[in-house]
Amino acid sequence: MPISRASIHGQWSSRLIFILAATGSAVGLGNIWKFPYIAGQYGGGAFVLIYLLCIALIGIPVMMAEVLLGRRGRQSPINTMQTLAEEVGRSRAWRLVGVMGVTAGFIILSFYSVIGGIAVAYAVKFASGVFVDSDAEQVGGVLDALLHDPLQLLLWHSLFMCMTAVVVARGVRAGLEQAVRYMMPALFLLLVLMLGYSMAEGAFIQGLEFLFMPDFSKLTRAGVLAAMGHAFFTLSLGMGAIMMYGSYLPGRTSIVRVSVIVALADTAVALIAAMVIFPIMIANGVDPGEKEQFGVGLIFNVLPLTFAHMPFGGLFGTLFFVLLVFAAWSSAISLIEPAVAWLVESRRVSRIKAAVLIALTIWALGIVSVLSLNRWAFSFEFAGAQKTTGMFDVLDILANNFMLPLGGLAIALFAGWVMTRQSIRDELGLHEGLWFKIIYALVRFVAPIGIVLVFLSILKLI
Ligand code: TRP
Repeated sequence: MPISRASIHGQWSSRLIFILAATGSAVGLGNIWKFPYIAGQYGGGAFVLIYLLCIALIGIPVMMAEVLLGRRGRQSPINTMQTLAEEVGRSRAWRLVGVMGVTAGFIILSFYSVIGGIAVAYAVKFASGVFVDSDAEQVGGVLDALLHDPLQLLLWHSLFMCMTAVVVARGVRAGLEQAVRYMMPALFLLLVLMLGYSMAEGAFIQGLEFLFMPDFSKLTRAGVLAAMGHAFFTLSLGMGAIMMYGSYLPGRTSIVRVSVIVALADTAVALIAAMVIFPIMIANGVDPGEKEQFGVGLIFNVLPLTFAHMPFGGLFGTLFFVLLVFAAWSSAISLIEPAVAWLVESRRVSRIKAAVLIALTIWALGIVSVLSLNRWAFSFEFAGAQKTTGMFDVLDILANNFMLPLGGLAIALFAGWVMTRQSIRDELGLHEGLWFKIIYALVRFVAPIGIVLVFLSILKLI
C-alpha cells in the first residue's frame, strides 16, 4: 500500500534533518551524564559489553520498528498504534502502548528536567568564573550546596521546563531544526577535543581497561537489566518519541540506514564521554572500582575539575555545559512531543495550550525528584544494587528499566507479528533477500526474546 497519509503536524524538510532531530533526541544527558555513572556503578567492562549488545540486537531493530510504525501511522503514538491495529483488524487496545509511552515520557522528563536544570546552572557558574582554579574540595562543595538547596534546584528545573515548553509550543520543525543543525556537531567536536585532553593528561590506558575489559564476576542481574534499560533510554526508544519523529519522515527515506546512523552516533558520543571521564578520574586518584564515587553528581564533580586545570578552561567549561544544555533540551522536547501531539489531534486544543498544560504537569511531578536529592533522600536495595537517591531512583528504574523495554517489546511484536511481512518490506524499501531476512528476524525474534530473557533474569526465573 502506498503511503497516502500526511501528518497534520508537518514534515521534516529533509532526511538529514530527521537524522539530526533523532540524534538530537538520542544524544543527551543519557550519554554524558548517565552512561559514565552507571558504567561505574555496575562495574565497567562487562556492563559496557552487555549495553553494546543491547544496542545492536535490541535497540537498532526496535528503532527501525518505531520509525516504521510512525511513518505509516503519521500521528501521535497513541493514535498511530490504534489506526495501524484497526487497519489489520486487530484490537484498538494496541493504543495502550502509546498511553504507556506517554506516561513513561512524563516520568522520565520529570527527573530529566531536574538534571537538565543543574546543567543550566553549571553553564551559568562557569560563565561567571566560579570554578577558576578550584580544587576537588571546592568543586565538590559547589555541587553539594546546589543539591542540598531544593529551592535553587526547583528554580533551575522550572527554567529548563520553560525552555522545553517554548520549543514544543512553536512546533517541532520551526522550534527544533535550527537548534540541532549546529549544536549537535559542535558538541561532538568539543567532546573529541576533551578526549585529546584526557589522552594527554588522564590515565588513559587504565580508563580504557576499566571500560572495555569485561570482568564478568562484577556483572549482576541488576546490571544486565540496567544495561538493557539504558540502551532504550539512550536511543529514546520504547515510549514513542522516535515513532513521533518517524511520523514526520518523508516517504522515501531509508529507515534502515537512518536508524543505524542514529544508533552509531549516539553510541559514539556515550563511549567518548566515558573515555573522557574515567581516565581523568583515575588520574585524580579516584578508583572507579569504588561504587560510592558514582551517582547523579559524577560529571558535575569530575568535569569542572578538568576544566579548572585546562588552558582556557573557563571558556571551554562554559562552552561544554552550554552544549550539554542544548543536547538535553533537544532530548526533552522529544519526551513531551508525543503527549502534545496527541492532545492536539484528539482534543483539538492549540499546540501552545497543549504544551503549557503538559509542561506544567511534568514540572509538578519534577518536585518529587528535586526533594529526593535532599529532604526526601533514602536508600534502598534493588536486585543487589544499592540506590541512594530515593524516589529519583524509583522513577528512574520504573520508567527506564521496565516501561521502556516493555513498550519496545510491544512495538517489536506489533511490527514483527501483527503487520504483514509485505507491508514491512515495502516500508523498509527492501526486496526479499538476505538483508531483509536478517532485519525481519531481528525484529520478530531476537529483540523480543532478548527483552524477555532479561526480564526473566531479573525475576530470577533463569
Ligand atoms: N535519549 C535521551 C538521552 O540519552 C533521553 C530521551 C529523549 C529519551 N527522548 C526519550 C529517553 C524517549 C527515553 C524515551 O539523554
